[in-house]
Amino acid sequence: MSQETTEQPLDAVGRPLPAFAVPAPLASHGPARVIAMCNQKGGVGKTTTTINLAAALAEYGRRVLIVDFDPQGAASVGLGISPHELDRTIYNLLMERDADIHEIIRHTAVPNLDLLPANIDLSAAEVQLVGEVARESVLARVLRPVMDEYDVVFIDCQPSLGLLTVNALTASHGVLIPLECEFFALRGVALLIETIEKVRDRLNPRLEVDGILATMYDSRTLHAREVVTRVREAFGDTLLHTVIGRTVKFPDATVAAEPITQYAPTHAGAEAYRQLARELVARGDAA
Ligand SMILES: Nc1ncnc2c1ncn2[C@@H]1O[C@H](COP(=O)(O)OP(=O)(O)OP(=O)(O)O)[C@@H](O)[C@H]1O
Ligand SMILES: [Mg+2]
Repeated sequence: MSQETTEQPLDAVGRPLPAFAVPAPLASHGPARVIAMCNQKGGVGKTTTTINLAAALAEYGRRVLIVDFDPQGAASVGLGISPHELDRTIYNLLMERDADIHEIIRHTAVPNLDLLPANIDLSAAEVQLVGEVARESVLARVLRPVMDEYDVVFIDCQPSLGLLTVNALTASHGVLIPLECEFFALRGVALLIETIEKVRDRLNPRLEVDGILATMYDSRTLHAREVVTRVREAFGDTLLHTVIGRTVKFPDATVAAEPITQYAPTHAGAEAYRQLARELVARGDAA
């Protein structure tokens, strides 16, 4: 008899890596699960993850909406929508009670993927919302009319823990925390978790941390492995199995204004975001 051993693949911290099944097609759509992509540290991969994870779920037949909730409008740009050409954005929905969300949502070049765009106008909302009644739940109210039309809504947050981010957390069921695999990655995560817990206690009891996603992982460096190992020690299985490797294909795809799943569909980066989509479905965090 042959002594063939089927080697179980391991993830970046040595846990057995499950083979996440391709999600079954959905017979009907909605109600959406809302996921905030959140880390007050800048440049950790929030927008890249929002666009590419959303595109991967859309490939699996999920109806997905991206809410660009950053005045920089990076998610809008990354999907080919030029933010200064927009006269109506998420800002109008936050500030005008009778604005119609259906008139502001755009289809993207990716089937099943829509976008609620933002531009620099949104930076005024942070100040203008302060005087509003229930100022923390304005975004939740704005999204309510389309909840039954999508399976997943992603909110791409700006790098801050201000009122806009609190609105995103109040509107969400879950939070995904992208973490760049570098030495100071864990700085600030405790404050972020504290903010999430405050929002859960005071505003949104259903809110949960869906997972921490290691991004910009370079498997050739010991350093990157040390960072994910420390994240595992600190946060246990909140650290997702899927890690996103560091590759120039991501900035390239942004320049092309396409998700990597379309720009370089067979690249390891595209496959990583597909695996992340399957992992989240398997965990029950996405439809
Ligand atoms: N896995 C990766 N490998 C290489 N480059 C990446 C990767 N992920 C993101 N990048 C690049 O790093 C930069 C920052 O990424 P991204 O814009 O997604 O971060 P962010 O957290 O949304 O930033 P901000 O806080 O400014 O909103 C971008 O130029 C992006 O193309
Ligand atoms: Mg961003």
